[in-house]
Amino acid sequence: MAASTPAPQEPAGRSPAPATPSVPSGPSGPGKGGAVVVGASSGIGAALVRRLAGEGWNVAALARRSGELERLARECQGLPGRVFVHVHDTRDVEQVPALFEQIGRQLGPIELGIYAAGVMPKVDRQSYDTAVDLDMLAINFGGCVAWCNVLAGYFRSQRSGLLIGISSIAGDRGRKPNPMYGATKAAMDHYLEALRNRLSEAGVHVCTIKPGYIDTPMTQGLQGLFWLISADEAARRILAAGRAGANVRYVPRRWWFVGTALKSIPSFLFRKLNF
Ligand SMILES: NC(=O)c1ccc[n+]([C@@H]2O[C@H](COP(=O)([O-])OP(=O)(O)OC[C@H]3O[C@@H](n4cnc5c(N)ncnc54)[C@H](OP(=O)(O)O)[C@@H]3O)[C@@H](O)[C@H]2O)c1
Repeated sequence: MAASTPAPQEPAGRSPAPATPSVPSGPSGPGKGGAVVVGASSGIGAALVRRLAGEGWNVAALARRSGELERLARECQGLPGRVFVHVHDTRDVEQVPALFEQIGRQLGPIELGIYAAGVMPKVDRQSYDTAVDLDMLAINFGGCVAWCNVLAGYFRSQRSGLLIGISSIAGDRGRKPNPMYGATKAAMDHYLEALRNRLSEAGVHVCTIKPGYIDTPMTQGLQGLFWLISADEAARRILAAGRAGANVRYVPRRWWFVGTALKSIPSFLFRKLNF
């Protein structure tokens, strides 16, 4: 997987960035642990960071676009929790263990990890492009594995923690428009289910989120969207689902009916559908 992006930055946000990444602050905010949000520079991830900082969590916010991350950290100044930004490309999987350690030193005990990073490039119906597909696989699933593995090992040793993966209803069936996007989400569903089963005996919960249409940069310009909700409303529902101990949660919940209906359509009929 590619390793061509900048090294992780020192923390930014409410306080001036220290010269070294050592800000052992103990539990964050009023009674909260630290939280890690991967894919935090826009959309659902950014909305999760705003909500968590508002609740008093100290949050590590990760993504590639430093400008967007710094804007988010500035926006969160004055909230009870602190936001520490890290420029990171989830394709750089070999960076993950060291970066996670650095984040641990900043945040103190980590109680929440969320993998929200994802891309959905526009794919032509006649296109079969291996480079595009494998890049999507590396970001949407490879990065998810790298981050969930370090979080899973950490939470297991700690014997507590909540791990949330943002999958999609697109993983429910193999649809025509973007075969690899759906495949990455189906892989996430399977992998997160296995982690949930493994970690349950250690008191760690793993929650799979399957959004429908959310109003974010990813869906901008797409036609025919319905039941669209804001990123902030999605973030509220995602955190509520994780805290309620949901295993798999469609967001909003009415998408469960759609997912269930889609899964019940036999293949010979499903392939005739043009969506
Ligand atoms: N919007 C929807 O309707 C919808 C529906 C179902 C599922 N989802 C899923 O929800 C998640 C969030 O998407 P969104 O709708 O909020 O879209 P978005 O605004 O485009 O957010 C995607 C986030 O992923 C980050 N990201 C992408 N590639 C990355 C990489 N290589 N390394 C690190 N971070 C990376 C982006 O940051 P940088 O570009 O700065 O790196 C951004 O913060 C995605 O997994 C998406 O598949 C969205």
